[in-house]
Amino acid sequence: MTAETTDAPVSALDPYELKKQFPILQQQVHGKPLVYLDNAATSQKPLCVLDSSRHYYEKLNSNIHRGVHHLAQAATAAHEAARTTVAKHLNAARDEEIIFTSGTTDSVNLVAGVLVKSGRIGPEDEIIVSGLEHHSNTVPWQMLCEQVGATLRVIPVLDDGTLDLETYQSLLSERTKLVAVNHISNAFGTVNNVIHICREAKNHGALTFIDGAQSAPHLPIDLQLINCDFYAFSGHKVYGPTGIGILYGRHKLLTELPPWKGGGEMIKEVTFEKTTYNDPPFKFEAGTPNIEGGIALAAAIDFVNNLGVENIHAHEDLLIRKCAAVLEDLDGITIYGPEDRAGALSFTFEGIHHYDLGTLLDQMGFALRTGHHCCQPLMKRFGITGTLRASFAAYNTEEEVDQLGIALKKALMMLR
Ligand code: ALA
Repeated sequence: MTAETTDAPVSALDPYELKKQFPILQQQVHGKPLVYLDNAATSQKPLCVLDSSRHYYEKLNSNIHRGVHHLAQAATAAHEAARTTVAKHLNAARDEEIIFTSGTTDSVNLVAGVLVKSGRIGPEDEIIVSGLEHHSNTVPWQMLCEQVGATLRVIPVLDDGTLDLETYQSLLSERTKLVAVNHISNAFGTVNNVIHICREAKNHGALTFIDGAQSAPHLPIDLQLINCDFYAFSGHKVYGPTGIGILYGRHKLLTELPPWKGGGEMIKEVTFEKTTYNDPPFKFEAGTPNIEGGIALAAAIDFVNNLGVENIHAHEDLLIRKCAAVLEDLDGITIYGPEDRAGALSFTFEGIHHYDLGTLLDQMGFALRTGHHCCQPLMKRFGITGTLRASFAAYNTEEEVDQLGIALKKALMMLR
C-alpha cells in the first residue's frame, strides 16, 4: 500500500519500502499489526545493522588493539573505521575526539567523573542544566555538585515547553563552569537553540555539554556549528544496537582531562610506582569495548546517510505535524511543547490516566510510551504525573498517524 496523493507536503522517503528492511515491524501484537511509535525510547534495527552484528561474530570477532593475528587486526581496523564514520557524521575535527561509551548516560557520567577528578569545579562554582532535561542529564551533575559542594542552577521552562532563555542569560556568571542541556527534549520534542546556548556559555568561560540522544536520530549534526565542548548520543536510538554510545569531546580538553576508569588500553606504561596514560580517545576507553556494537553503529549511520538525514527530518516533521493536527480536536486533550517540535509528541486527556490509554492502545497494536519519560521535574512543572508520547522514525507512515487517531477515539470512548 502507498500513501495517498494530496496537496499536502510529500515525503522524500517511502516508509512502506523502508519498513521491509525492519523484520520486527512485520509482526502482529495482540493479533493486530504492530504500529511502533516509541522511537524516542529506542528505534528498531534495519537488516543492514542486524547483518553487521552477525557478520562481526561470524567473521571478525577478536579483541582489538591487542593482537598481531589476522582477526585482531581486522577487528581493530573495523572498530577504528567505525570511529571515523562517527567523526565524519558529526563533523568532529578529528577521529580522536570520538570516545565509544555504552550510551548517553555513560557519556554524561564519564564527563561528570573526570570533571570531579580534574578539580575544575569547586564549592563556589555552578552548573546550569535546564528544566527540560532527562534524569540522565540532571542526576550525574547533581551528584557532581554534591561531591564538590557546587550549586546546580536550572533554566526554567516556559508554558509553551521552550526554555526561558532570558533567565538563562541571567543565570550565567563567572561562577558558571558548565552548561549541560539537551538538543531535543525526549519528553516534549522541544528543539533547543544549542548554538545560542553554547555561545553564551562560552562568553562566560563555561564548558558546554549537549545531550544529543534525541537529536542524533532526527537532525543533521554539525559539531563545528554547535561549537560545544561535549556531545553525546546513544546507538540504539539511531537504528543501531543497545550498549553502544558516543561521547564527543574537544581534543584539547580530552588531552587535559584525567582518565575516568582505570584498566587495560587506557595506559602507556604501568609500573607499581606510577602509570602513564594513553592519548585520547584510548585514555577514556579502559577495558574491552563493545566492538560489535561500534561497528554496527557505523552500519546504522551509513543507513541514515543513505536515506539522508534531511529527508528523515522532513518525513518525521510531516508526520509529527499531521499527528498534532489529527489529535488536537480530540475532546479533553492537552498537547505539550511548541509547534516546531521534533521526534516526539506528548499529550494527556483530562480525567484519563495515560497508563489506561497506553494499555488500551497496546491491545490495539500501538506501542507508545506512557509515564514521566525520566523527566519528573518537567512533569511537576506542568502539574502532571506523565503523558502519553508518540515518537517517530523514518519508517512510520501517515496512515499509522490516522490509525492512531481512530484508536485513541475508540480508547477514549471505552474510558469515558
Ligand atoms: N530516554 C528514553 C525515552 O525518552 C528512554 O524514552
